[in-house]
Amino acid sequence: MNIARRLEALKPSATLAVAARARELKAQGVDVISFAAGEPDFGTPQPIVDACKRALDAGMTSYGPVPGDAACRKALCDKLTDENGIPGLTPDHVVVTSGGKHSLYQIFQALLDPADAGTPNRVVLPVPAWVSYRPQIELAGGVMDEIPTTAERDFKITPAELKAAITKNTKIVVINSPSNPCGTMYTPRELRALGAVIEEAAGTIAPGLVVISDELYEKILFDGNQHLSLGSLPGIAKRVVTVNGLSKAYAMTGWRIGYFACPGTFGSKLVGAVKKLQSQSTTAIPTFIMPAIVTAVKECDAQVEEMRVEFERRSKVAYKAIAGIDGFKCPKPMGAFYLFPDVSAHFGKYTPTGATIDSGMTFASALLDEAHVAVVPGEDFGTGGKRCFRFTFACSQEQIRAGAERIASFVAGLR
Ligand SMILES: Cc1ncc(COP(=O)(O)O)c(C=O)c1O
Repeated sequence: MNIARRLEALKPSATLAVAARARELKAQGVDVISFAAGEPDFGTPQPIVDACKRALDAGMTSYGPVPGDAACRKALCDKLTDENGIPGLTPDHVVVTSGGKHSLYQIFQALLDPADAGTPNRVVLPVPAWVSYRPQIELAGGVMDEIPTTAERDFKITPAELKAAITKNTKIVVINSPSNPCGTMYTPRELRALGAVIEEAAGTIAPGLVVISDELYEKILFDGNQHLSLGSLPGIAKRVVTVNGLSKAYAMTGWRIGYFACPGTFGSKLVGAVKKLQSQSTTAIPTFIMPAIVTAVKECDAQVEEMRVEFERRSKVAYKAIAGIDGFKCPKPMGAFYLFPDVSAHFGKYTPTGATIDSGMTFASALLDEAHVAVVPGEDFGTGGKRCFRFTFACSQEQIRAGAERIASFVAGLR
């Protein structure tokens, strides 16, 4: 009995091996400090929890509408229009999904054909990038074209690099700003310049080009950095699919609420295709969660800001402690809650117990075994990630300081 080929080809995550080892050590009573999770350590704001409880008490336990009920789609449409400046949206251009991850999965399924279909199926993705893009793109039959970036340039691409990467076979460009795992983001000016390249390519070699703008971290910004939605740029708005969710900004990872929106006739076509797919797979998110979405986007700005301020404080503590470690190249965090130091200056060295350091993976494994600090090796994030590890600072400042001290003494012990 065999498993389908498309799943046999799916690579298991390198992160899992480190996570399993961390659990093993913890079970043995070892004091492991973990910076591996990709989620806020805060509880969900109480008004959101209360809205969900009220919905349950009111008996909202039947199947709900596939794309989400009218009230939650209207609330999200208002948010995208008023806050993000995306023109031409109606609630019918919005679909609510089981997390942003599920939005992305379904969008790739809806847009990509295998190569033998003879239509453009290549996806341009600046890397290092979030771990699930590649598997989701490949499962849908797409082919990735990575644009590598470096720590020296804040892990960002230039308009010229984007221009060079787009060909007549490019169907999608994915932009994730602020970025997981890099913790950096594009300025509005940089995004406008990337938008101009997309507009030009769509007007010439790639008329069917679609942009997926992953804005999961749009509200976790530091030092006055401004977020711009690519979907607000008039020249490309009709081809931008904006993906977002409540997981990060509202500390709601376990609720599994994501959504996407795209205006105009293409938006309606995409929404129609995804609704078909969702109706045949998950149907909808839980009905009693839908009112909580309205409460989150309409009533919880203060709680979101409180969490942002604390993330900003932690970003400073983490950056000071980690970027200062000998040999680390680490851009200053601009948004999200990650540092992604390039530690390749230490490749070729050995730990006191004789382990070789020659990649993010070997660095992270030895750090866990010998200093009891768990981080995510960079390999899973695409080309260039192998030189790095991801450090999440969604934890207390004390934990950040203690962990960074352990990392610094581990590095000092390398020979
Ligand atoms: C860049 C990015 N996009 C999308 C997601 C998906 O998040 P969720 O499915 O919890 O909404 C994540 C989660 O880590 C992420 O980091």
